[in-house]
Amino acid sequence: ESEDRSTSIAHADWGRLRQMVSGCTACPLSQTRKQTVFGVGDEQADWLFIGEGPGAREDELGEPFVGQAGKLLDNMLQAVSLRRGQDVYIANIVKCRPPGNRNPQDAEAEQCRPYLLRQIALIQPRLIVALGKVAAQNLLATDASIASLRGRLHEFSGIPLIVTYHPAYLLRSLGDKAKAWEDLCFARDTMRNLQAA
Ligand code: URA
Repeated sequence: ESEDRSTSIAHADWGRLRQMVSGCTACPLSQTRKQTVFGVGDEQADWLFIGEGPGAREDELGEPFVGQAGKLLDNMLQAVSLRRGQDVYIANIVKCRPPGNRNPQDAEAEQCRPYLLRQIALIQPRLIVALGKVAAQNLLATDASIASLRGRLHEFSGIPLIVTYHPAYLLRSLGDKAKAWEDLCFARDTMRNLQAA
């Protein structure tokens, strides 16, 4: 049965995929969410930013990164001349808010993964930016720290991937902001090379 689910997700177009996400009951997060948070942006963007999961504000509004961390993300995008909704697509590892903003559990992320994989397949981004530890560790199947993963190019199913700090973390650890800005410049330079290739 779950194989059927993965198979239909893997063949869904955008409309069907949205519909499947909004009705999803595959994991217990579906019982506590107000609404699902699908993702937002240019469906053909070169850039795909992936966060962890919706917080309270996102759960209210149905859009990723619209709370405090989202404002910082918008500033991070602006630092490399990117605009939400135009140059990038923004999604999360899980589409439903974990209660109290706890980290998503592995089983929850696993149930949600086919949706993200389909989004990636439909978007075909040139570069993925993993925002924070949960996204980076999940996508790279590692338990290494952000500090050890940032500053170099990784790959997620053939797509170049760069790791940086989560904006919510940066709000608490201003000392690491400069490093995040370095990561964004690294990402911008990487994108230029990819676009020129
Ligand atoms: N943090 C995330 O990881 N994703 C959001 O959408 C909002 C906050």
